[in-house]
Amino acid sequence: VETSITLTVNGREHRLRIDVRSSLLDVLREDLGLTGSKKGCDQGQCGACTVLLDGRRANACLALAVAQDGAEVTTVEGLADGDALSPLQRAFIERDAFQCGYCTPGQLCSATGMLEEAARGWPSAVTEDLTADPDLDETEIRERMSGNLCRCGAYEGIVAAVREARA
Ligand code: FES
Repeated sequence: VETSITLTVNGREHRLRIDVRSSLLDVLREDLGLTGSKKGCDQGQCGACTVLLDGRRANACLALAVAQDGAEVTTVEGLADGDALSPLQRAFIERDAFQCGYCTPGQLCSATGMLEEAARGWPSAVTEDLTADPDLDETEIRERMSGNLCRCGAYEGIVAAVREARA
């Protein structure tokens, strides 16, 4: 069964005819040709498919495309401003935050979302009030990025890049 949805991807609106069973990841990769988002496990376990969905991190392999009608999606292709890489993308290069690169698009989208979450603030464990600009030490970064696996084990570089981009 097919249906039509509208998706705004990296600032561009698309009217798409899709199979109702398609994942957002398949629509991005196959219908829109945006192959930056990777299909690792296709089961929500590796994070290679992470995108920003209405500003929040999401595994595109787990999101049914039909349920995202009207949503705004940012993929790794939308992180740079034209030819100008984002500060986080530059920090990934400077800090050798990848080896094979397969997980990198998901790591970048996830870290971008996490930095935005930190800027908005998250509940303090003690007061439950939103703490804007909370401490983002190595433990916190590893915990908040734990949905993004790296088979090459480039975690040290990833943490260093996130901290540098934040500084
Ligand atoms: Fe989506 Fe692995 S491909 S989490």
